[in-house]
Formats: sequence, structure tokens, C-alpha cells
Amino acid sequence: MFPLLAPFTIFKLALLTLQLQAIPITLTLSPCKNSCGNIPINYPFGIEDGCGAPQFRHMLNCTNDLFFQTPSGAYKVQSIDYDKKSMTIYDPAMSTCSILQPHHDFVMTDIQSAIIPPSQDTVFVLLNCSIDSPVLNHYKYLCFNFEGHTCDELYGSCNAFRVFHLFSNSSPPCCFTSYNTVKFMSMNILDCTHYTSVFNTNNLKGVGPLDWFYGIKMSFSVPDTGCEICKQSGGTCGFDTDTEGLLCLCSTSNNSTRQCGK
Ligand SMILES: *[C@@H]1O[C@H](CO)[C@@H](O)[C@H](O)[C@H]1NC(C)=O
Ligand SMILES: *[C@@H]1O[C@H](CO)[C@@H](O)[C@H](O)[C@H]1NC(C)=O
Ligand SMILES: *[C@@H]1O[C@H](CO)[C@@H](O)[C@H](O)[C@H]1NC(C)=O
Ligand SMILES: *[C@@H]1O[C@H](CO)[C@@H](O)[C@H](O)[C@H]1NC(C)=O
Repeated sequence: MFPLLAPFTIFKLALLTLQLQAIPITLTLSPCKNSCGNIPINYPFGIEDGCGAPQFRHMLNCTNDLFFQTPSGAYKVQSIDYDKKSMTIYDPAMSTCSILQPHHDFVMTDIQSAIIPPSQDTVFVLLNCSIDSPVLNHYKYLCFNFEGHTCDELYGSCNAFRVFHLFSNSSPPCCFTSYNTVKFMSMNILDCTHYTSVFNTNNLKGVGPLDWFYGIKMSFSVPDTGCEICKQSGGTCGFDTDTEGLLCLCSTSNNSTRQCGK
């Protein structure tokens, strides 16, 4: 009987089938976006307000790409590893081996410093430090040996940093240091004209600066708030935007305090 149907009816039938298929998908859609570009967004993160853990509220911004918002700017998120609980971000204004840009401060809120600080294997490299820099004097101990790498190596192998060699025969001092140094002293106080940062530094012994991983790796902690129970019931963890009380978001039309169906 199919051949007897007018083309228009077939079209309507097809449309109806499509709609019927679409309905269950719509109903099971989580009220929270679960990706931004190709980066999955899971607890404790959220893009829409009310999704994820309240401690991580307003930290991510999805405008085409995913950005990590701090008081010093929006940093492009390159990846989030939920197993290792780490997120790598890139500061577009930072110098790297291939581009020289004036320093600016990397500032995080107190909450960010507490729950998503730069990882232990992220090293900040202060470049072209003046001889009066605190890290060459009183705070010398804040600089450490980074897998045997030297300023000379950095200034010599990176196109961007060769300029530091140009005007003097000796290379200006640099300092390999940790996030705490830039957290407690602004770039102006540190008195070094440029900086870069490198992550996964445990694997960089004997590896030249051209092959380092430039960016900042953050380690996040996941608040232990019973999100598992909510997830197992099919919900998504979120919170009330007025009270920041925890919610289990079950569908676009129903929330629960602990788990869905209860
Ligand atoms: C459920 O919670 C979300 C996030 O707080 C909120 O946007 C939404 O309006 C709530 N829905 C209902 C039906 O309470
Ligand atoms: C999100 O990040 C972009 C990119 O830096 C920025 O232009 C925009 O203002 C941010 N949006 C919000 C709501 O903060
Ligand atoms: C290096 O630092 C000195 C001041 O200590 C500054 O005059 C010079 O311009 C800096 N070099 C570059 C390439 O920015
Ligand atoms: C929300 O879900 C609970 C448990 O399934 C149910 O008792 C309640 O009637 C639902 N509320 C709405 C507005 O659908």
C-alpha cells in the first residue's frame, strides 16, 4: 500500500516518525549542558548557573570555546581530565618559546586558589629578571632547579627569547618557581619583564624547551556532597541559585534535594 500514498503523505509520515523519535530524547535531556566544543562538562563544573557544584560557580564560560574565568582574565581551557582531576588552560597573553609578550599577572580568587590551584608539576618561569629582583636576592630560595634546565638553554633554543641575548653578552637571570611565588608577589614586584609557564614538568628531564608543554595545569578537588547518589538516580548535580543549597536536577521540570524519583 506504500506506493499508493501521495509523496506528501510519505513526507508527513517521515516527519511524524522523526518527531516521535525526538520526544524521548528531549525528555531525558539534562537541564545542564554537558559539553562545550569538544570538552566534556561534568561535576563539579557547570556552564549554566545552577549546574555543578556551587563552589565552582561562575568559573567556566562557554562562548564558542571554553574559558576559565579569573580576576586577571579568561583563559582558554584546553582539556579537562576527570580521572586525574586536572584541567589545562592557556594564557593567550603569556610568552612561550615562539612568542614574546609583556608579562601580566595571573590572579585567581581565594576560592580558586583553594579548590583549583595550579598543579605541583606546573612551573612558572620568570624571564629577564633585573638584578634587583627579590627572587635573585632575599627570596632566592623560591627559585629551584628545574630538571637541570638553565636560562641559557631557554634563551638559546627559543626564537622568542633570543632577544634577551642580543644586547648583552651574558644572559639576564631567570627563575624557575612555583605558583605560590606569583600568587604572593605581583609581576611588578618580581621585577622580571616576561614569564611563561610549563606543565607536566616531571617528564621534561633532557627535553629541550621547544618541546615543553606551555600553559598551566590546575588540580581540582571535587566536593564530597552525595553527587553520586543523584547521578545514579539519573540526575545531574546542581544547586539553588539563590541559596546555593544542593539540588539534584532530574529533568527540566523537576528538581529534588537528593535523588530523582524520591
Ligand atoms: C531546578 O533547578 C534549576 C537550577 O537551580 C533551576 O534553574 C530550575 O528552575 C529548577 N526547576 C524547578 C522546576 O524547580
Ligand atoms: C567569556 O569569555 C569571553 C572570552 O574571553 C569574554 O569575551 C566574555 O566576556 C566572557 N563572558 C562572560 C559572561 O564572562
Ligand atoms: C630586559 O630587562 C631590562 C630591564 O631589566 C629591560 O630594559 C629590557 O628591555 C628587557 N628586555 C626585553 C627584550 O624586554
Ligand atoms: C517531581 O518528582 C517527584 C518524584 O518523582 C514527584 O513526586 C513530583 O510530583 C514531581 N513534581 C513535579 C512538579 O512534576
